[in-house]
Amino acid sequence: MIKIYYSKNKEEAGMKAARCVAEIVNRKKNAVLGLATGSSPEDMYLELAAMYQRGEVSFRDVRSINLDEYIGLDKNHDQSYAYFMRHHLFDKVDIDIKNTYLPNGLEADYEYECRRYDELFNSLGGVDVQVLGIGLNGHIGFNEPSDSFTVGTSAVRLTDSTIKANSRFFESETDVPTMAFSMGIGQIMEAKKIILLANGEAKAEILERALFGPVTPKVPASILRFAKDVEVYADEKALSVILEKHSENVIR
Ligand code: F6R
Repeated sequence: MIKIYYSKNKEEAGMKAARCVAEIVNRKKNAVLGLATGSSPEDMYLELAAMYQRGEVSFRDVRSINLDEYIGLDKNHDQSYAYFMRHHLFDKVDIDIKNTYLPNGLEADYEYECRRYDELFNSLGGVDVQVLGIGLNGHIGFNEPSDSFTVGTSAVRLTDSTIKANSRFFESETDVPTMAFSMGIGQIMEAKKIILLANGEAKAEILERALFGPVTPKVPASILRFAKDVEVYADEKALSVILEKHSENVIR
């Protein structure tokens, strides 16, 4: 079941998503959070840090596992997802850094790292809430459009569209790593709850295709239609095509 929540802007979407995550953590102190990076969840992390400051939530016993990491980047590289997470959330709240997990982007043995991450994922005993963004091509995590849905963690080659989209964070397109470790679609689908964030006009078309088009590995996010509990927090721009074609499905 997918609930699509309207927000006027990305700040509002981030705030609503943060409240949803905080509610879960307040109910279950040692909740497992599945986390994403990129611009989509930035406002959510900002609000979670503010809620922590206001004493409204504590992450002391929380464990987290991230979706993905670039292959070839050290965890201290300012574009690594490990760095992103410290900068946007971990350094701003009381989470124990030892309870936060990301793939090791420097592991040269890809097969080893994927199995290690799968074992780690299994040892956490289930993700309570998985946060996702959506790529311009419909990817979730770095599960790019394909002929089949991935199950576990894999080393993926990023598509040209993803490299181009992510080049905005690097000095030049050639600096963007071409591969990443990513949790699989099967693992994402195991989460008890999924929050999908989308902002801006560039996401409008793919968001409509994912949520209302055919379920196909060509649009990886379309698999979310088979998930039990999905909440979409999107701004007006990202919702523009959905509002035009399926406005009755949007909760205001
Ligand atoms: C990041 C991730 C990616 C992003 C997606 C959207 O951890 O898994 O799937 O969520 O590429 O990126 P932004 O939010 O930067 O538009």
